[in-house]
Amino acid sequence: MDRPVLWIPRRLSDATLARAQRDYTVIAKPDDTPGTAAEIIAMSAQVDAMIPCHSEHFSADVVAKLDPRMRIVANHSVGVDHCDLESLAKRGIVVTNTPDVLSDATAEIAMLLMLGAARHAVAGDRLVRTGAWDSWSPSFMVGTQITGARLGIIGMGRVGRAFAQKARGFGMEIHYHNRSRLSPKDEHGAIWHETLDTLLPQAQFLSLHCPATAQTRDLLNAQTLAMLPKGAIVVNTARGALVDEDALIAALDSEHIAAAGLDCFKVEPGGNPAFAMRDNVFMLPHIGSATRATRDAMGFRALDNLDAFFAGRAPADRVA
Ligand code: DGY
Repeated sequence: MDRPVLWIPRRLSDATLARAQRDYTVIAKPDDTPGTAAEIIAMSAQVDAMIPCHSEHFSADVVAKLDPRMRIVANHSVGVDHCDLESLAKRGIVVTNTPDVLSDATAEIAMLLMLGAARHAVAGDRLVRTGAWDSWSPSFMVGTQITGARLGIIGMGRVGRAFAQKARGFGMEIHYHNRSRLSPKDEHGAIWHETLDTLLPQAQFLSLHCPATAQTRDLLNAQTLAMLPKGAIVVNTARGALVDEDALIAALDSEHIAAAGLDCFKVEPGGNPAFAMRDNVFMLPHIGSATRATRDAMGFRALDNLDAFFAGRAPADRVA
């Protein structure tokens, strides 16, 4: 059989590209820009498979126009909210993702955001960097201590559990909400809350680790933010869709929420300029999984899924 033809729209790690070129006929998009709907549709007639990222959108409209030649979307991401899974499944197109391999990297960024939001990282860095630091006082830049604080985690999947493990190292008390309770072995003493109603009032820190779905859209909104204790700190490394950004800004303005650490936004790339005006919002540009080791592992996982598919086996990470 001829080697399958594979479209790679974004610049993946060198090791990923080398392995892909060894085993497939690769068409790589020359510029590292998101694949547009028109490009996805046009490429589907030329390739058997694609390795997109969360920046390529497979909406129902796009999926309806895909050429039948293209049989598998092997995502280079754990999140699959950019894919209309139902439409893809109806067309018989296999979809896979890259779970596990990015959990630690994303949990590390959540820790950075939590610490940075709690300890004035934005204002402090700017003060020193601009040469404007000209005094010191015991009441200067006083933040919130995380040691011994209660951390609420929404979504205790792989990333949520990796984050809980790191937070335990900081002496935090872990509370979580998840559709189903973890086994005691996986809980490590964390306290399960069947509903957000009991979790949120406990959460001096709250970190989001659930997927973006129709059910979780704007999960953090005026009502749920109000249930957090005054002075709570919110962290989001999952998806911007989970947060009603206007409600979060209002909660920051009223000082009900002390600070936020955000790696994800409703509009990406770009973010929300209203957050950018606030020193108590520590932000990063969706780089949760951006370490060299994790990029290689994500690329290899996507290729493992493709290899299985083209060898006639079930890909390990099939989601549709
Ligand atoms: C993921 O894998 O879902 C990350 O957000 C990067 O795309």
